[in-house]
Amino acid sequence: MSVKLIDLTGQYNEIQKEVEESVINVMRSTNYIMGQEVQNFEENIAKYLGVKHAISVANGTDALILSLAALGIKKGDEIITTPFTFFATAESIERVGAVPVFVDIDKETLNIDPALVEKKITERTKAILPVHIFGNPCDMDAINEVAKKHNLYVIEDACQAIGAKYKGKQVGTLSDVSCFSFFPTKNLGGMGDGGLVATNNDDIAKIVKALKNHGSGVLGREALKLLNPDFKDDAEFVEGFEKYYNYLIGYNSRLDEMQAAILNVKLKYIDEWNQKRRNVAVQYKKGLNKKFVFQKETENSEMVYHIFSVQSENKDKIIDCLHEKGIATGTYYPVPMHLQKVFLKLGYKEGDLPIVEEVCKNIFAIPMFPELSEKNQNEIIKVMIR
Ligand SMILES: Cc1ncc(COP(=O)(O)O)c(C=O)c1O
Repeated sequence: MSVKLIDLTGQYNEIQKEVEESVINVMRSTNYIMGQEVQNFEENIAKYLGVKHAISVANGTDALILSLAALGIKKGDEIITTPFTFFATAESIERVGAVPVFVDIDKETLNIDPALVEKKITERTKAILPVHIFGNPCDMDAINEVAKKHNLYVIEDACQAIGAKYKGKQVGTLSDVSCFSFFPTKNLGGMGDGGLVATNNDDIAKIVKALKNHGSGVLGREALKLLNPDFKDDAEFVEGFEKYYNYLIGYNSRLDEMQAAILNVKLKYIDEWNQKRRNVAVQYKKGLNKKFVFQKETENSEMVYHIFSVQSENKDKIIDCLHEKGIATGTYYPVPMHLQKVFLKLGYKEGDLPIVEEVCKNIFAIPMFPELSEKNQNEIIKVMIR
């Protein structure tokens, strides 16, 4: 038997005809950058999320960097975030020159513990960046309350959580600005890299749109005025050459037409696929029972199980048994962010964030994807509870 951790074959077979046609249409159109598919995708996903602006970008990491930059986050600012995440969350904070400040997680939800945030706020703190880890919504009311009290921005890293709900609302719509990834293995994945910034704030949207495309033209000028109210310039552009007038040091971070075409097809299925993940999770929890610790889905949230994690003190033995049977496992994450070598300079040491450190020792992931067969689910459970 052979079961991958995330197997995209079943999904591809399901949508093969539709998706291949959509890609061929793009190829034949010869319009590869910022065309109709990108426009349609931004409209479709804005509608799906229920958000005013959905701005496609090249990947989830860029979505984070552009969001932070659009909020004016810069050198010396502090951003409070979780140590239990993929590196890109903390990396993006450093990339704009700010300092990540790590707060321990809640041992049940594995998300940032809102009760510990306030203690880490200083006069340099500008934002809180929670991550809906493995597709489990953070306690957004508690986070937004602290943010409001201290006049901080909130940026959601929803890269693993498209379709998840908090109190019935889509994650990624519960803060100033939010970020999504369409990395191929994500719940909504392209066939290459892709990402999205979502916001209800017109100014943030304008700046992200400008920054993702070199900060040029009318948008670049308007974005600069928003970032620097002292800047006043309304000189005429030479008609047709607007994009060669530059106002900001931006990025080239555009989603391409082929990825947008693929995502337009896949977006139609996201709720169905997320539901299938939730069904697999129900079976796992039933079968694995009390032998393992599961990530908690609270009464306020609907999780989308990007990863199905379990915690066990017998982790190594169980992983060996699974591998013997050809069943893949994953380790998310072996090293919490505050103990990453690259962040040594921040001065954290082992024992500073005890909950995440303990979780990282005992956690591992078992296969999770919508098409995982009942037979394979049962086999995985059987091997694990033996
Ligand atoms: C929590 C989290 N944040 C950010 C990212 C970065 O996304 P990308 O790989 O699309 O740059 C990812 C995914 O890889 C992620 O899981």
